[in-house]
Amino acid sequence: MESHQGYLWALIFNIFALLHLVRAQSTEGFISLDCGLPAKESPYTDQKTGLVFSSDAEFISSGQSGKVRKNYTGDYKPHNVLRYFPDGVRNCYDIRVKQGTNYLIRAEFVYGNYDGLNVMPRFYLYIGPNIFAVVGEYDRYPGEELIHMTKSNSLQICLVKNGATIPFISSLELRPLASDSYSTQSDSLKLISRGSMVDEGHTIRYPDDVYDRKWSYTDPDTRVQKLETTLTVNSSNPYKIPQPVIKLGFTFINESEPVRLLHFNEDFGDNYYFYLHFAEIKTLEASDTREFTIIWNANTPNPVYSPKMFHLETILINASTKQCYQGECELQLVRTPESTLPPLINAYEAFRAVVVAIKSIQTAYQLKVISWQGDPCVPQEFKWDYVDCSYTDKSTPPRIISLDLSKRGLKGSIAPALQNLTQLQKLDLSSNSLSGEVPEFLANMKSLSTINLSGNNLKGLIPQALLDKEKNGLTLNVQGNRKLCFTDKCKNKTTVIVIVSIAAGILVVAMILLYFAIKRKRMSKAINKSAILPKQRRFTHSEVEVMTYKFRKNIGEGGFGTVYHGFLTDMEQVAVKVLSQSSIQGYKQFKAEVELLLRVHHTNLISLVGYCDEDDHLALIYEYAANGDLKQYLSGESTSGSLNWASRLKIMTETAQGLEYLHIGSEPRMIHRDVKTTNILLDENFQAKLADFGLSRSFPNGVETHVSTNVAGTPGYLDPEYYRTNWLTEKSDVYSLGIVLLEIITNCPVIQQTREKPHIAEWVGLMLTKGDIASIMDPNLKGDYDSRSVWRAVELAMSCVNPSSAARPNMSQVISALKECIMYENSNKGGRSDLDSNSSPELSFTCAPEVTPDAR
Ligand SMILES: *[C@@H]1O[C@H](CO)[C@@H](O)[C@H](O)[C@H]1NC(C)=O
Ligand SMILES: *[C@@H]1O[C@H](CO)[C@@H](O)[C@H](O)[C@H]1NC(C)=O
Ligand SMILES: *[C@@H]1O[C@H](CO)[C@@H](O)[C@H](O)[C@H]1NC(C)=O
Ligand SMILES: *[C@@H]1O[C@H](CO)[C@@H](O)[C@H](O)[C@H]1NC(C)=O
Ligand SMILES: *[C@@H]1O[C@H](CO)[C@@H](O)[C@H](O)[C@H]1NC(C)=O
Ligand SMILES: *[C@@H]1O[C@H](CO)[C@@H](O)[C@H](O)[C@H]1NC(C)=O
Repeated sequence: MESHQGYLWALIFNIFALLHLVRAQSTEGFISLDCGLPAKESPYTDQKTGLVFSSDAEFISSGQSGKVRKNYTGDYKPHNVLRYFPDGVRNCYDIRVKQGTNYLIRAEFVYGNYDGLNVMPRFYLYIGPNIFAVVGEYDRYPGEELIHMTKSNSLQICLVKNGATIPFISSLELRPLASDSYSTQSDSLKLISRGSMVDEGHTIRYPDDVYDRKWSYTDPDTRVQKLETTLTVNSSNPYKIPQPVIKLGFTFINESEPVRLLHFNEDFGDNYYFYLHFAEIKTLEASDTREFTIIWNANTPNPVYSPKMFHLETILINASTKQCYQGECELQLVRTPESTLPPLINAYEAFRAVVVAIKSIQTAYQLKVISWQGDPCVPQEFKWDYVDCSYTDKSTPPRIISLDLSKRGLKGSIAPALQNLTQLQKLDLSSNSLSGEVPEFLANMKSLSTINLSGNNLKGLIPQALLDKEKNGLTLNVQGNRKLCFTDKCKNKTTVIVIVSIAAGILVVAMILLYFAIKRKRMSKAINKSAILPKQRRFTHSEVEVMTYKFRKNIGEGGFGTVYHGFLTDMEQVAVKVLSQSSIQGYKQFKAEVELLLRVHHTNLISLVGYCDEDDHLALIYEYAANGDLKQYLSGESTSGSLNWASRLKIMTETAQGLEYLHIGSEPRMIHRDVKTTNILLDENFQAKLADFGLSRSFPNGVETHVSTNVAGTPGYLDPEYYRTNWLTEKSDVYSLGIVLLEIITNCPVIQQTREKPHIAEWVGLMLTKGDIASIMDPNLKGDYDSRSVWRAVELAMSCVNPSSAARPNMSQVISALKECIMYENSNKGGRSDLDSNSSPELSFTCAPEVTPDAR
């Protein structure tokens, strides 16, 4: 009996474990951060949702932990602690996401008088460069939600100070949405309200809602009547409204009045998106009809709608407040005269589009100006060049009031996106090469009082509306546009204008020549001081500060300096290596690296974007490798899991191709000297990019080898022959690459004192004499590889690490061998079960994880 019971419990336990597993799978891509939870505390499961929350510490380096006051704590643990930001104006989370994914992003702010001041702070919340909320005034739900399509694989969520109060955050959640739901095109959507008839005080969310939206009771009016069904509603559309929500609906008690769903006042001609979720949940009599129209503004005729029987249907209303009657906006459901039943709605969501105008302007003109990153107006000290913002009213976010893009070399027509800068007062587009006509919309921009379009190639007739506005005080400058006409008759004047402008043109050319002549004279005096690089790639120290947000995010240590993350433009991320100041050797490495990198151009070598050489400030600006380095992937530090065998081979081949280029393709030839897993970076497509050329050596043509004065490199990867003899050849890189190859095969430390043979090459050699290849393979590969491919790779690695450089293959031979490995691996997709049958992957324990000395 007892044992039976034990068995039963085990069974029940297993079922629960299984259920848990099923649940865990569907949370793929969920990011649930309990902000302020100390980094050392392990993740925990929230009882109600089963979601696992973890500390936010790995996504942000600033801020401090705070605890809400005892009498405010509840049983929702993520809200009991928070992170607050006493320092800096703008503090950002940097979260790794999937590019091109629509995410629901939810930030919650439960103040709980954590600081004893009993004042709810006010501040701004940003997604990348776009403001999306003013935090601080909540009646009910203390949070903000946004639906946002990720443009890259990192997402910045920033808290920005507004005045003296200290920004804080309690929890931050990201949920990927199905690509066919909430299609937002270019906009991001800010949640205004999400209404349903769920019991008051209750919230429906995950696991009922697979997207973890929060549904609670929000009635538009007190005179609503609740409908309810016990039958299942077919909710198989992309919006996946949970059953407990869709089974409820509401209608009005007074059946002859329209259902007034939402009501608000106009706000800058914003766009709203209403997702209305309908299902008929009453079993209708034959004589019953339920028909109504959905009306946003009284002037737009809409078709008559009838909810489907027990079947969810979602209707999107794309509404602009421009259409509102006298600034009053209303969404109504109006019963048709024929309908026997009043309108019914089950749930609705209202979003406001977050305007991203300045970004489209930037994209339209492909502006690459260093300080065009983050928000154009906030924080004030990082305000973009070329814009002016209004900061007068602290309660509303600053808006751009002036845009100066004079002399920026702009081409193409005048960007329509300018319309969206609704508060713009001054627009200067003078002295560019803009073509096309002067657009009519400029006349419709209410605040605009000064327009300077002089010195472009605009043509055609100036819109009459704009000329009319000029009479009413608008300052309009359109001089120097030869083909521009004020009236239909202007064509006759063309010749005169042309002659004048040719004369003017000659003058301009003469002046430009004079300018350069003077400038060159001055330059030639200064040139031998430094100026090792073409000027356009040179940045000032303050530009580097802006780029890196004052060196906020350290992403690693490279040879002779610390590497920071930065933004060159909104889109273009960079890695900025700042050299330790006043290190003479550092300066030499710096110059060497700059000079080499300027010469080399290869897809598998990290490229140099620019540099800074201003007094003591030395920095190198590289392209950014979004996926970190190979070491992180092998050590499991990376959250995106480990690499499979085919990917590892691909990365090795690409690395070898980069090295081959250095060895035989570049002019002069070069030796990298510091090939190792931390120097093999991976971009967003997992393409290998070899980095850190600080130790590289170049050789004049024809000279094959070189006696170097000081041996340099990384222990473990260092060619023993070079170490002994000081003779440096390309084969030293081959040796180091062989070590990397052994690492991707075994995933073992290069040097581990506790093993029979501390050095990886000797250890693998020893293990191979025992004949069992499976026992050295990285267990993370789970036996999923073609054994011929692996054997070939091991053989290649061992020949690369041959103590005698003469016996090692050259880099081209390494590449062909790696391609052979790839060929074996590809040729045997699927049918490999018999190959490693004598060694189960679970048993192939290889090496202990690396022991970090500071663990205690
Ligand atoms: C917590 O205590 C403070 C002061 O004792 C009081 O003002 C506040 O209302 C309490 N809050 C709650 C939620 O009980
Ligand atoms: C739900 O509706 C879809 C079509 O919209 C249909 O394909 C599916 O079979 C329905 N499911 C059930 C359980 O009726
Ligand atoms: C229902 O609304 C109509 C129109 O507003 C009104 O005339 C009528 O008195 C209302 N009936 C009830 C029962 O409130
Ligand atoms: C919504 O309407 C605006 C203006 O009418 C338009 O620009 C936008 O593309 C529309 N969006 C969708 C998703 O239809
Ligand atoms: C202006 O903003 C609206 C709302 O975000 C957007 O739909 C529209 O495409 C923008 N217009 C232009 C010309 O970029
Ligand atoms: C317009 O731009 C031109 C060229 O930059 C400048 O000379 C002129 O003063 C500007 N005019 C106004 C009204 O700002």
